[in-house]
Amino acid sequence: MLALGSDHAGFPLKEEIKKYLDSNHIEYKDFGCYTPERFDYAIAAQKACDAVISGECDKAILFCGTGIGISMAANKVKGIRAAACSDYFSAKYTRAHNDANCLCLGARVVGAGLAEELVDVFLNTEFEGGRHKTRIDQIADIENGRKLY
Ligand code: RB5
Repeated sequence: MLALGSDHAGFPLKEEIKKYLDSNHIEYKDFGCYTPERFDYAIAAQKACDAVISGECDKAILFCGTGIGISMAANKVKGIRAAACSDYFSAKYTRAHNDANCLCLGARVVGAGLAEELVDVFLNTEFEGGRHKTRIDQIADIENGRKLY
């Protein structure tokens, strides 16, 4: 189950991606917003990311104008590794190397066609583990207030 969330700027792209997910039989839960009215991205980020951390959802895909604000908010949720991506390579390697559990897309940055490709590669790339696991653990250490140096 995917968790989706957006602010008003990301709302139209979220609706496009929902159609794409429907046509590929990928289940999702939409944590809002549900209209194009002004809606602050931190609220949607926290709701969707809480669902990932609780185990209700496996990953989150979030949308705002740039993908950046909502990624900043998402990364404040403990255990979330969110990446704002607008190119295929980054969307692939944030899974392979960073074990990202949240993809953030900018509706004012990418079109629906590219966004579909980014979602597809993000969902279908496995974390490589190994040396990258050490680095993920270090990120968690920072989150838990431990000094790395
Ligand atoms: C909203 O106008 C816009 O600032 C927001 O969607 C996002 O781009 C912030 O990072």
